[in-house]
Amino acid sequence: MADLDGVKDNKEFHTGVPQETAGFFLKGSSHYDWGLKNRLARIFDPKSGNTVMLAFDHGYFQGPTTGLERVDLSIVPLIPWADTLMLTRGVLRSLIPPASRPSLVLRASGGPSILKELSNEEIALDIEDAVRLNAAALAVQVFIGGEHETKSIHNLTRLVDQGLRHGIATLAVTAVGKDMVRDAKYFRLATRICAELGAQYVKTYYVEEGFDTVTSCCPVPIVIAGGKKLPELDALTMAWNAIRQGANGVDMGRNIFQSEAPAAMIQAVRAVVHGGETPARAFELYNTLKNQG
Ligand code: R5P
Repeated sequence: MADLDGVKDNKEFHTGVPQETAGFFLKGSSHYDWGLKNRLARIFDPKSGNTVMLAFDHGYFQGPTTGLERVDLSIVPLIPWADTLMLTRGVLRSLIPPASRPSLVLRASGGPSILKELSNEEIALDIEDAVRLNAAALAVQVFIGGEHETKSIHNLTRLVDQGLRHGIATLAVTAVGKDMVRDAKYFRLATRICAELGAQYVKTYYVEEGFDTVTSCCPVPIVIAGGKKLPELDALTMAWNAIRQGANGVDMGRNIFQSEAPAAMIQAVRAVVHGGETPARAFELYNTLKNQG
């Protein structure tokens, strides 16, 4: 029977208070649909606007990369400090606890190994499986200037179409071939093409000269890859410089999982990316945490 006795009836309609229409915090993302925005807000922290993505998808073309021989031992303990895990669905299903809190960016392109021409990738994931696995975004390699440039762009645009149908974001990863110059001019070209063709955010490399021009003319957020292992202070300085010049976070792998103290390093990276700490203070934090074991 309906519970009709003693119903509270003093309704308050707040007629004089205009309803606020909240904006969306992320660059270039205000006009997306609700589900897509919600997924992006699970990658990028709405408070800082930035993300610490822990990247460990390297095995999809290079096998057991140094530091990733045993993901259960090296990566799983770091999960609590990541906003997002960037990984393959194989490792996800085999080794990552389903109760993990970070959002997921699934590697969605692949094909050639390090023994072959890397730009010759295909889409390597069905969107239905991405939905089943609760992915927030799909990552696809884009080889601007590479041998299979057009095919990689086509992979991107197909994933964007499939992702939009389900409210899943697409992360375009700008891959640089061996013969290409890694400078701001190249990254302006590569990141802008990815954004124009529909990627909701783009991963690229930090460059010392003119990185702010790369972020400035890319209409969607940019995150930087960590790249090869650097001394910890240098990696923290790179992250700090990138954030100050308009990046919205890092997608960092080797500089975390190949560090002497990976748990200390990811926390120091967070201090830079979310807390605005200077590299020197973040390095101090790294050393303190490292010494605490
Ligand atoms: C490499 O191909 C993968 O996409 C990695 O996720 C990416 O390069 C970031 O990892 P790292 O910081 O080690 O460069």
